[in-house]
Amino acid sequence: MSVTIFYYTGTGNSLWVARNLASVLKDAEPKPMLLDKPGPLNTASDTVGLVFPVHMWGLPARVIEFVKRLEADKGKYYFACAVNAGQVAATLVQLKKLMASKGITLGSGFDFVMPSNYIPWGGAPDTEKQNKLFEKAAEKIKRAAPLLERKALSAPEKGPLWQNIIFSAMLYPVSAPHIPKMDKSFFADDKCNGCGICARVCPAGNIALPGGRPAWQGRCEQCFACLQWCPKEAIQYGKKTSGYKRYHHPEIRISDMFVDEKKV
Ligand SMILES: Cc1cc2nc3c(=O)[nH]c(=O)nc-3n(C[C@H](O)[C@H](O)[C@H](O)COP(=O)(O)O)c2cc1C
Ligand code: SF4
Ligand code: SF4
Repeated sequence: MSVTIFYYTGTGNSLWVARNLASVLKDAEPKPMLLDKPGPLNTASDTVGLVFPVHMWGLPARVIEFVKRLEADKGKYYFACAVNAGQVAATLVQLKKLMASKGITLGSGFDFVMPSNYIPWGGAPDTEKQNKLFEKAAEKIKRAAPLLERKALSAPEKGPLWQNIIFSAMLYPVSAPHIPKMDKSFFADDKCNGCGICARVCPAGNIALPGGRPAWQGRCEQCFACLQWCPKEAIQYGKKTSGYKRYHHPEIRISDMFVDEKKV
């Protein structure tokens, strides 16, 4: 079995899941979900994984675009991991339907609960809470691996019915279209030293640096990489975030996030 695990990540949680899965599967390689080249996406691997964060109880736009460009191959086995902060809701059901519309079967879909990077909800959880989540996720990876090795078919994991209806079916469709322009709430405060890291970690190329200061360009994916990785904690989102603890996965390095290095 050869496996390509395509990942999308803002703060490293999904990359960590993708890497750890790759380390327990045979002949598996994590690759970023890049959309920089036009045209259909394909891989020679016989198993394809998609690992990504849940955004607003549904799929991030990048994941939707990536799946739309995937070439359907009946011979391949497809699986997904929806990495979230406790509310996966109907994200994997949405993915299964999207893939089905392309003639692709989602063989299995796993819900991974990791620390929240959505800073408007509050700062990072304390280290003890983070470690508990990492331990649980590591156990789940061990349980998932044999299922993936034998290409098991199962219904995608999902949240409780109320969450799926109120959040995924009602709130997601009205919120998601506004995401690109939600960067209006970002600004850099006086701590900014003009290092440019925010622009280098932005998967959307959404940050220009006129005069060495970040300027958001209105095509945001709301991954929060810019805010969470800024070494000076200079990026704020609205009025509350200056007092909130930043988050990124402790085993993921900033260089893993640099978009320019992923392309080479
Ligand atoms: C814009 C945005 C929306 C989010 N919405 C949800 C959500 O609906 N449910 C949830 O459980 N977590 C939500 N989160 C939290 C992330 O899914 C979670 O922290 C995830 O582990 C981040 O993965 P990453 O580090 O790979 O980006 C959201 C995060 C962001 C930035
Ligand atoms: S990463 Fe932070 S300090 Fe560096 S340019 Fe961006 S806002 Fe300024
Ligand atoms: S501007 Fe910030 S939040 Fe928006 S896509 Fe880029 S890194 Fe993510």
